[in-house]
Amino acid sequence: MTPKNMILRTPFAERLCHWLMVICFMLVALSGLSWFFPSMSWLSHVLGTPQLARILHPFLGVVVFLALMFLFVRLVKYNLPEPQDRLWFANVKDVLKGRHIKSLQVGKYNAGQKLLFWGIMSLITLLLISGVLIWRPYFAPFFPIPVIRVGALLHSLTGICLILLIIGHAYMGFWVKGSIGGMVTGYVSRKWAKTHHDRWFKQIDSKKDHP
Ligand code: HEM
Repeated sequence: MTPKNMILRTPFAERLCHWLMVICFMLVALSGLSWFFPSMSWLSHVLGTPQLARILHPFLGVVVFLALMFLFVRLVKYNLPEPQDRLWFANVKDVLKGRHIKSLQVGKYNAGQKLLFWGIMSLITLLLISGVLIWRPYFAPFFPIPVIRVGALLHSLTGICLILLIIGHAYMGFWVKGSIGGMVTGYVSRKWAKTHHDRWFKQIDSKKDHP
């Protein structure tokens, strides 16, 4: 039963997938950083021992990739570019200041979230490809050394970019009050939906009136 004045935003399967992905991503990111910056080598203990980190890092990375592909299939239809996205970009300063004066015709996800969605999906694909190239002992022996070198460089750069993108994503999640609650319980208030995703709110509301 839907709680009073609340709207289902994120179904259970998507929430479970998202939070599983968050845990795996943190472990993968921290172990990855431990090899990139010598001053962070102590982080290689996040997966038990440095040896275990070396073994588990790629497998957990594949879990993150598969979880993201599940979300991709479920959410891609809400993240396609639409003409209304221009309105959001034109008013991005007001959005960032938390001033919601006029209707910005925002669908289930705003233009910023859409950019982030495509950024995350592109980077994770590059990370998977470059990760396979350098994955010893299973795949790396099939590739020549120069390819492995390029793979290692690409993997490090895309990894850093994804970590920075996710820090921004998590920051925005905490900054917009009610978003984290939506990802934890699945529900957001009608007021939250009307304020941040007005066009999506109207669609949900009209379906409720005319089933
Ligand atoms: C502590 C870390 C994180 C927090 C607090 C967080 C928070 C959130 C929240 C609140 C939403 C829902 C936004 C809404 O309903 O409008 C969301 C969506 C999403 N998150 Fe996260 N997240 C975190 C980490 C991650 C990671 C590590 C990934 C992927 C590697 C990720 C990928 C996504 C994706 C793909 C969506 C759907 C957005 C869309 O379809 O446009 N998140 N996150």
